[in-house]
Formats: sequence, C-alpha cells, structure tokens
Amino acid sequence: MLETVLKRDRDLGTPARESKNLVTLTVDGREISVPEGSSVMRAAAEAGVNIPKLCATDSLEPFGSCRLCLVQIDGRRGYPASCTTPAEEGMVVHTETPKLHDLRRGVMELYISDHPLDCLTCPANGDCELQDMAGVVGLRNVRYGYEGANHLQDTKDESNPYFTYDPSKCIVCNRCVRACEEIQGTFALTISGKGFASRVSPGQNESFLDSECVSCGACVQACPTSTLQEKTVIMLGQAEHSVITTCAYCGVGCGFKAEMKGNQVVRMVPWKDGKANEGHSCVKGRFAWGYATHKDRITKPMIRKAITDPWREVSWDEAIAYAASEFKRIQAKYGRSSVGGITSSRCTNEETYLVQKLVRGAFGNNNVDTCARVCHSPTGYGLGQAYGTSAGTQTFKSIEKTDVVLVIGANPTDAHPVFGSRMKRRLRQGAKLIVIDPRTIDLVDKSPHIRAEHHLKLRPGTNVAVLTAMAHVIVTEELQDSTYIAERCDMRSFNDWLEFVRKPENSPEATESTTGVSAATVRSAARLYATGKSNGTAADVAAHRPNGAIYYGLGVTEHAQGATSVMAIANLAMITGNIGREGVGVNPLRGQNNVQGSCDMGSFPHELPGYRHVSDSTVRADFEAEWGVTLDPEPGLRLPNMFDAAVAGSFRGLYCEGEDVVQSDPDTQHVAAALMAMECIVVQDIFLNETAQYAHVFLPGSSFLEKDGTFTNAERRLSRVTQVMPPQGGYADWQVTVKLANALGMPMHYSHASEIMDEIARLTPTFRGVSFKKIERLGSVQWPCNDDTPEGGLETMHIGEFVRGKGRFLITKYVPSDEKVTRKYPLLFTTGRILSQYNVGAQTRRTENNAWHPEDRLEIHPVDAEDRGINDGDWVGIESRAGSTVLRALITERMQPGVVYTTFHFPESGANVITTDSSDWATNCPEYKVTAVQVLPVTQPSEWQRTYSRFRRVQEELLERARDSEALTGAK
Ligand code: SF4
Ligand code: SF4
Ligand code: SF4
Ligand code: FES
Repeated sequence: MLETVLKRDRDLGTPARESKNLVTLTVDGREISVPEGSSVMRAAAEAGVNIPKLCATDSLEPFGSCRLCLVQIDGRRGYPASCTTPAEEGMVVHTETPKLHDLRRGVMELYISDHPLDCLTCPANGDCELQDMAGVVGLRNVRYGYEGANHLQDTKDESNPYFTYDPSKCIVCNRCVRACEEIQGTFALTISGKGFASRVSPGQNESFLDSECVSCGACVQACPTSTLQEKTVIMLGQAEHSVITTCAYCGVGCGFKAEMKGNQVVRMVPWKDGKANEGHSCVKGRFAWGYATHKDRITKPMIRKAITDPWREVSWDEAIAYAASEFKRIQAKYGRSSVGGITSSRCTNEETYLVQKLVRGAFGNNNVDTCARVCHSPTGYGLGQAYGTSAGTQTFKSIEKTDVVLVIGANPTDAHPVFGSRMKRRLRQGAKLIVIDPRTIDLVDKSPHIRAEHHLKLRPGTNVAVLTAMAHVIVTEELQDSTYIAERCDMRSFNDWLEFVRKPENSPEATESTTGVSAATVRSAARLYATGKSNGTAADVAAHRPNGAIYYGLGVTEHAQGATSVMAIANLAMITGNIGREGVGVNPLRGQNNVQGSCDMGSFPHELPGYRHVSDSTVRADFEAEWGVTLDPEPGLRLPNMFDAAVAGSFRGLYCEGEDVVQSDPDTQHVAAALMAMECIVVQDIFLNETAQYAHVFLPGSSFLEKDGTFTNAERRLSRVTQVMPPQGGYADWQVTVKLANALGMPMHYSHASEIMDEIARLTPTFRGVSFKKIERLGSVQWPCNDDTPEGGLETMHIGEFVRGKGRFLITKYVPSDEKVTRKYPLLFTTGRILSQYNVGAQTRRTENNAWHPEDRLEIHPVDAEDRGINDGDWVGIESRAGSTVLRALITERMQPGVVYTTFHFPESGANVITTDSSDWATNCPEYKVTAVQVLPVTQPSEWQRTYSRFRRVQEELLERARDSEALTGAK
C-alpha cells in the first residue's frame, strides 16, 4: 500500500527553473550547482539548507513580502530576500548569522503581535508554518502588546461549504492570491486596503460563496496559517496518516493524499508528485468525497422477484446464488446470448477486466459493453483507423510547449478543471486559442487574461463541415507540412483525401451557410492552427512551424458523425505535422475517470483487452488458455442493441456494475421499457440509482475509498486507487464479481487486486510491464508499458512512426444529421457539464456541491426566449420526438439563437427523455448533442416527470420496507 507517514511535502521555496546553464554557488560552505534563474532560496534548499520563509512556497512565483528569508551575500550590501534573489555564479551566501537571527526575530515579533495566540485550540496546530517559523527563529517574547490596532476581532467568512476564512489569522503573505492567479487561473482574490488595513478579499468584498471563487482549494493549500482552513479539519482535527490514491471523478485522474484518522478521511490533499495534477485539484476531487459515507449508501445485498415487490435484505451467499441461478435459468430458456453485462468508466481497470471476463467466460458470449459506448467509442474507432490505436497522444504537461491550442467540443474549465487550469496558464503565457463550440464556454469570455483569438460558434452537428473546411484552407493555401506527410503518412490515402478535400464544396465559403461560421473566421482559424498567425502564409511556416495541439471532448464524439469528426481531427493534425512530439497532438478529454481504462480492458463486445478483435483466433487462444474456457468468436451486442433485443424479447438478463443506464443513456423511456422487459437485472452500485429501481438483485458496491485497483486517465496514465477504509458492504467490487463468476461455474481466484493486474499484464502486450509495485514505485505509468518502452511507459505516442505504421488519411464527407429542425421542433437541443456536478450526479448531488448547482436549467438565447414569452427562471417545457420534460429557463447570450442547452446531473430533469435513438454511424454512440426540440412556457411538470416521481416514490417505499424489516429482525 502506498502509505506515507503524515508530514508536509518538502517545500523548496520557489519553483524549479529549466535551463541548460548551471550556476555554482556556496551556501553556508556547501557548494551547489543549480539551473540559471533559480533563487538563492531554492539553491540553498537543494544544498540541504532550509532558509526560514513565510510568503514563499515552491508552487508559486516568489513575492518577497515577509522578509523572513533574508540572507547575507559576500560583496553585497544589506540583507536581500533569498526567495527573490537569483543565484549567481560564484556567490557566497550565509543564511545563519547573529544579525540575520535578530532581523528574523524582529519580523516574527511583528507578525505575532497581530495574531491570536490560541495555538492550542487552533485547527492548524501542528500544521502551521507561522508556528513552525516562530520556533525556527527562536521567538521567545513579543515586545508589542495587543493594545494597539489589530485584526483579532475580524469576522470569519464561513460561506464556502468546505473551508473558512478567518481574517484574524491572516499574515497577508499573498500566497492565496497568487495561488488563485498562478495555479487556478481564476483571479478571484485580491488584497484590498493598504498597509495595516490590507486584507484578503474575494471579488469586490463579496463572500467566498458569492464571489468568482470555484472552490478549487488552491488558496487553502497555499495558506501557511489557519486563515483558510478546511471545515473537516476544524471538525475532526489533524490527520494521523495519509495514503496516496486517485480521484474518482474526471479523466484528468488527479493524485491525492487521503489524510486519515483511522478509517475516517480528514481531508484530501492534491498530491504534489501526482503527474496529472502536480499538486492542484478541483472542487470535486478535493472536497466532494462525503458521498462515500452518505446515509443513502446501501450496504446489504437485496433481492426481489419482481420490481413491484419490496426488497428483501439477504446474505451475500443468498444474493449471489440467486443471481447466478437466474442467469442460468434465463440462458437455459432463451439461449446463451440472452444475458450480458455492462461495466462503467467509474470502475477500476481490474473490475472492468473481471466483468468482461465473467461475460465472455461464464455467460459464454460477448454481450459486454461499457458507458464509453455513449461517450468516446468514436474516439476508439476514429483514432484506431487513422493512427492504429485509440488514445490521447500526449501528457497533460505537453501543453507547456504548445503554441496554438485548438479546443473543440470540450469545456475544460468545467469538465476537466485541473487540466483547464494548466491550459489557461499556457494561454496566459501567450499561446493562441481557437475554440470551436456552439456555446460560449468560459475559455472564450470568462477567463481573466485569456482571449480566444477565434470562437467558431458553429451550429450543432456541423463539426465535420468545419474541420474539413479548415483542412481545405490548409491544403489550398499550401500550409501543410509536405515533408512530414511524405515521411510519415500513407501517400495513397493522402492523395485520395487531397482530391476530396480540395473540392470547392468543402471550402469555408461553400459551407458557411451550413455551419453558421463565416468563411473568413474559418480561414483565419485554419491559418492560425497551421502557421501560428491568423493571416499566416506558406512563407511563415517555411520559416517556423508552430506546435498545434487539439483537445476535444464529447461535443465531437456524441454526434451522428462522431467517428468522422475524430478522423477529421486526425487528418488536421497529420497535414500540419502535429503528431509525434511534445507540444502537439490529438487529445480526447475523457469524461469519466476511467474511460480510457474501461476501453483498454476489453469491455467492448468486439474486442478483448488491448483492442484485439474477438475473431482473432491467436488472441482468443491466449485468453482461453489462461481462463480455461472456450471463447465465442462472434462480437456480442452493443448497449443499444441489448435494449432493442430486450424490448424484442430475446435479451432477458443483465449484470450492471457501476453504471446508471436509465439516467445516462439516450431515450430514457426506451431504456426503461427494455429494463422492464427483462427477467433478471443485477445492479452492483453504491446507491439505489435509477437503474437499480428496475433491478431484481442489488449487490452493494464500494466507493473508491474502499478498494484497491488502478484508473487510467486521458494521458494513458495508470495510477493507483488505494483502499483507505473497509468496504461498507463487506466486499470490494472485484471480490463481488469473483463470487458471482464462481457461482456461475467459472472459477476465479485472486487474493488481491494486484493479481488481476498481473493477469492483464500477462495477456496484454501493451500492459506487459505494468504492476502495482511499479506504479507505487514510480507514482504512475503510461501505456504502452513493456520491454519496448522506457520503464514508466511512453509519454508521447507516434514518435517516428504511427502505431499502424504510416498515418492514414480518411475521407470525411459531411452528412447532415437526420435530426433536423422543423416547424414543429424549431430549436436544437444540446447538453454539457458544469464544474460542481459530475455526470449523473449520484456522487456530487450527495455533497455540498449543490450549493453551486442545485438544479439543471435550460439555457436559451434572449431572442428565442422573447419570441416565446419566456422570462429568466420561468418553467419551460422542452419537447422532442422522443419525449418531453420541464426545466427552469436561464436566459443567456452564451447560447446562439436557435440552440438551447442543459446539463444532465439531476434525474428528475429528464435530459435524456428528450434525446433520441439517433447515433454515430460507426459506433452507435448516441447523438446526444443534437436533438430538434420546441421550447414553450408551461406551468406544471411533464407527464414523464409526473410518472417518474410516482415510480421513484414507490421504489423508495419498497426500499424502506426492506430496511424496516431488517430493523425488526435486528430488534428480535
Ligand atoms: S478556492 Fe480556488 S478559486 Fe477559490 S479563491 Fe481559492 S484558489 Fe481561488
Ligand atoms: S489568507 Fe493565508 S495565504 Fe492568504 S494572505 Fe492570509 S495568511 Fe497568506
Ligand atoms: S474531478 Fe478531475 S480535475 Fe477535479 S480533482 Fe478529480 S480528477 Fe482532478
Ligand atoms: S519568504 Fe522571502 S520574502 Fe517571504
């Protein structure tokens, strides 16, 4: 287990500098060489000399305000601050002299004379840098009393649900302000007032909750005192040990130190050595973990014959035996293919691997699918076709070398916040930004000191037309990288594609009436991506080719042409030579924490782990030998096909681990009808989610805090998920799958999750070098990780050659979606995420994050609202050909006329009642992002919402009856 003794990470005072030139200096007689630009403080720390400090920390640029870090330098007058003084060749530095001791004690006296001396009752007692420094400088008395003006009675701001601001303890070191600016990029804090009156202020003297603050916690992390303090620490006291683990939310995959008291989490501290996040976090990972111990957790297995029956709590053995007997009965009656399984991108790699192993080995078919079907399956197909493998090509850090960032169909500041902050930092340093999105996302207009050079506010569903028009501009204006293409790409596919893309019908002028983006804007954006200038020419790229990186999300994949858009992105990157080195690349931003991993682990019906087709007899033979079974060579049913088959009567049983298909899949009423038609649904989850209401067996799942395993983030990075508390239901999820497989007659024997990864590594060439031990030693590894790669795996893919050999260009003909606006449905409906909630909301809705987003709203442009007599906050009915629902309106110019938008974090919102069965041609990924709707003012919930509320109430009563009978049994 990655357990560490609880202590603060070593802080070297100022950030590391990169330079080929080293300077050598002497600090207290020790010689040290550091990169040019390093501070004297950092050089000293690297030589093992810790200079006292308060306003400096190595995650922030030095500020030089506290004057505690003074040093003496031979040949220099005065006592310079070591944090702001650059190390120079030949410098001789003294950090401990009687004069320096006096000066530092004087500084500390001044701080302490305006600081409450309540250390024993202070929540930061034992974890306070002010306290530490008082000790380090040898403070023994304070000559100035409290009689003069002070801040000791200043009022606390407790508005943020997770942390407090106690100004009486503030030493005005500015670390919080700098953290908010430099790390998070929100600029929510300022120091208001001057001199003695200066104080930290969120916004214009607002409370933290009312300000622009997004509750990332960077300021809390940076604060050296208890001024900004987690409420859990105030309540529970200091932790006594910590464990390294990985966030259970988005695909950034931030590393955290879970600081613990016994089995209780005291706080989650972003891990400084976590390569995905480097010590930063967002509100979800840092604070929204309370759901793990929420009272709604179901911790006892339950069964029932019909979904109209009350639940009955039973032993694990009875629940597992019942589930297995039902699956066997159904297969005996309806055939081998009548059952299947679904895994989730919220599951670990090991859990996902076991579910597909159970389906293929114990059910004897390939009816296994994952929620990646409904998000990034087009990425798998598109990148697989173009480059030979389905994965992001870069590390997140790679963006530090990017000159032009192209964001399409993604909203990183809300959906991938820690990477969003990294991207904003690079943009503040001068990288150029192109955003292609139907909606004005925060990167366009709400990020201080950032300006999108071009926002292509296209009509939903026209990504392919825009991307192909950009390629048209690049090749017709001779901006392509012909050398790269000739060396690295398949020329036959290039020539076919070139002929296609040059056609006038693909020009920005020909497509602007379709896309809604002016030809001039498309031309400028294409030139910017290819040359680094909006008016760049072939001469510019001949002189210098900039690094262009593309980041995309579900706004690309969840379309009827999702896979085509991915291919168009792949084409763009290849023609500009932007694949195969740092700073460039094609980067799918994965929605959930383990989307990459769930795809890697073979959870699609046609692929075994490592993206190998089930029809390949050599591959099958490896798995058959290891698993001791015979595998079906025919691909199984995809998720939507399972639902269709259920409605048609041929698919009757489902094992669903960690996924809530009723809320997250399109056309909710069709999904519900499919589930109602089945005879045995086994749901394994931590809450009685929407899908569980249709279940016959409920197996308690475990949260990320209760199990061991690995997650793979959007960089292909495998990080450890580490158990910090026992599973509430008694078993980790992988253990439950093992029990079920054994009951079904397929023996599985693992004593620890690491053994499952060992098996994955044995069977999967790209994972051959992966093991828990290696991940723990290195912090994380990136696949491919085997004998052909460096020890920690490959950071950048396709260097020198593509995985498939030569990069393949693919024809990307724009085909309009069948989902068209009509007189009956004149608006286009699209969906997205918000920072404070996550996916179906099952976790974040059970936290204080509701303070920021208590309901889903329908965003509508003022013109469309006015046409319909809709005021801000009015209830509006949204109707599509699939169904209707009711939300409150939010009138905003972020939308374009003709397009409405909502988030989908609350089940009662019914966003997927609206979405239809239309899907991507290649992968069946639903076309969530384009639905033709009408929106009108209404006064009551929709028919679906009324039915949903009644059904939910009944199901809650059936659950209550199980709990009541348990209470009665327990009382006897
Ligand atoms: S929590 Fe984050 S966003 Fe809020 S003030 Fe602190 S650093 Fe800024
Ligand atoms: S709140 Fe903390 S970090 Fe911010 S200025 Fe005050 S003491 Fe420094
Ligand atoms: S939700 Fe994503 S960005 Fe936020 S802490 Fe977790 S992994 Fe990091
Ligand atoms: S640490 Fe250098 S001036 Fe504060």
